[in-house]
Amino acid sequence: MEVIVAKSAGFCFGVKRAVDTVYEQISRAEDKPIYTYGPIIHNEEVVKDLAEKGVQVMEGEEAIAEKKKGIVIIRSHGVSRHVQEHLEQNGFQIVDATCPFVKKIHRIVEQESQNGSSIIIIGNPSHPEVEGIVGWSSTPAMVVENAEDIEKLPDFIGKKLCIVSQTTFNYKKFKDLVEKIQKKGYDITVLNTICNATQERQIEAKRISADVDGMLVVGGKHSSNTQKLYEICKKECNNTHFIQTTDDLDPAWFGSSDRVGITAGASTPNNIIEEVQTHVRFKF
Ligand code: F3S
Repeated sequence: MEVIVAKSAGFCFGVKRAVDTVYEQISRAEDKPIYTYGPIIHNEEVVKDLAEKGVQVMEGEEAIAEKKKGIVIIRSHGVSRHVQEHLEQNGFQIVDATCPFVKKIHRIVEQESQNGSSIIIIGNPSHPEVEGIVGWSSTPAMVVENAEDIEKLPDFIGKKLCIVSQTTFNYKKFKDLVEKIQKKGYDITVLNTICNATQERQIEAKRISADVDGMLVVGGKHSSNTQKLYEICKKECNNTHFIQTTDDLDPAWFGSSDRVGITAGASTPNNIIEEVQTHVRFKF
């Protein structure tokens, strides 16, 4: 059986940087508690490994006042200005591992809103990255996830509008939603802030899944970018399966397959991708 592993599978630059930052802080071994603000990535194995090394997860703003002072690492998704200030005011030392591409969106939203534009973020309103971006606008930012949300928007005639995107949003959906808003004739600045890492991973996943008779998408259950990869692959190859680790593999899936493709979400560590690859190559 031929096994094709996507080159873009796994950690993107921003996630790698954030995870490396946590391990670097552990290695400094200062006598202070280390926290990540939310799980550093959507991967249970990595979070478990960090917990064993003493890294605690700070779950939301309510937890800030309760925790013993220490180092808080901001993950690649970033946080709102309010959360950042709240941590500082409570005496925590911040190590900011916000992905620079997300940080760039914070800066755009901050500046454009200060210059009088209303902000629309195309994305999932309950995703932490989007919640963070919303929190850098000095005017109330609006989040649009689908066509129905556009109908609920106020009238922007005579006002300036700036549209940005969640970094992991699907490009085609972003384009469609932007076109719908543009038809309303507003004065709009559109900034496509979708990250290339996501686009490249999605394009490669589509290409590989169209060319194989079995496809594996490896990633955390709660990872939205892995879920999107799965949807893309499933459209091209019906024999597509979403797994977290080799434990989820079922040999029956690829009994009659000649070519199996593997891709993985942005939060999947390399060692897991390698294990899956070895398993499929030698044990099926
Ligand atoms: Fe950053 Fe793009 Fe990854 S925005 S966290 S490099 S998906």
